[in-house]
Amino acid sequence: MNNYFLKALNQENEAPYIPVWLLRQAGRYMPEYREVRSQYKDFFEMIKKPEICKELTLQPLNAFDLDAAITFTDILTIPDALGLKVNFVKGKGPIFEKSLSSMDKLDLNTNEFHDKIQYVYSATSLIKENVNVPLIGFTGSPWTLFVYMFYGQSPKDFKSIQSYISENSRDAETYLQILTDCCIEYAKRQVQHGADCIQIFDSWAGILENNYVDFSLKYVNQIYEALNGEVPLILYNRGKLLSTFIHESSFKAYSINSSDQIENYIDEDITIQGNLNPDFFKKNEEEIKLKVHEIFTKFKDRKNYIFNVGEGLTPDLDPEKIKIFLKTLRSLNSQ
Ligand code: CP3
Repeated sequence: MNNYFLKALNQENEAPYIPVWLLRQAGRYMPEYREVRSQYKDFFEMIKKPEICKELTLQPLNAFDLDAAITFTDILTIPDALGLKVNFVKGKGPIFEKSLSSMDKLDLNTNEFHDKIQYVYSATSLIKENVNVPLIGFTGSPWTLFVYMFYGQSPKDFKSIQSYISENSRDAETYLQILTDCCIEYAKRQVQHGADCIQIFDSWAGILENNYVDFSLKYVNQIYEALNGEVPLILYNRGKLLSTFIHESSFKAYSINSSDQIENYIDEDITIQGNLNPDFFKKNEEEIKLKVHEIFTKFKDRKNYIFNVGEGLTPDLDPEKIKIFLKTLRSLNSQ
């Protein structure tokens, strides 16, 4: 197995070689993804088929030279398996049948959780048998999952959840703890089925301000402690600077968003991945190649750096540009 990615997570990468993978490396920007997707009305119907998850996970690995695979699934599998029923509506994103915006209380069915989410474990085993790079499993953070469960969709304003958590902090904490326990078991079982590392997506961390530690970091730290020693864990935060919480975090590896600065952390005793704005792939070929050289020169001797984008690849990107980027990096890596 190509181990550069895992070695970098332990700050032991063999420099000069920059491992690379991309957030949302499979998805609508790829014609081969759109082809499979067009055969299903419902996104969840598609991802509940392990064979299809395997095929979608392998698509970017077949198209490009990448150093890690990520299981093709979604962070919203957890609320769906807890009985909230999630649909993806074209042009609107996820829409929940049940949420706190329409009900006083959420009845979360934890008894059937593992049966209902078993398809992710089956897909993980199947993918693991078919890849020769490390496999990343993932979960949403308890806070980010709670945000979706509160709004029943992607949040449009942040005010109502902020007032909910200040007025109903006990209830919020109860939901967050149930979600944390599910995330821990979900991550552990992905590891048992072959995931080599777990990434936690705290995509709505940016909603929280002074209360970020109490409503989010505290819970992701619990996940870290529960899995520590089993596999490396990576924390991804959107809308927050790592410097604002790094001293209260247990994590040793971070995926940082494009508003942050990698240079601020690269000398620390941690691994850093991410940071490039995915819009960069809209530049021309020359600019893309220049950027790869710049990144390579800057980070080639680092044992703790993984190239990635700061946010997920978007449907409007041209796969050819990504190919140019990755080919150029590979040619430098193999010199
Ligand atoms: O290849 C990979 O990177 C794995 C696939 C992956 C998906 N979702 C597939 C997907 C991963 C890692 C995710 C994580 C995810 N999902 C996050 C965290 C990362 C981030 O971007 O902050 C979040 C917040 C979600 C929730 C989600 N899923 C939304 C808001 C949407 C709809 C809008 C959108 O961005 O597409 C999804 C659907 C989704 N998940 C799609 C894919 C490929 C598109 C669905 C389709 O094809 O119709």
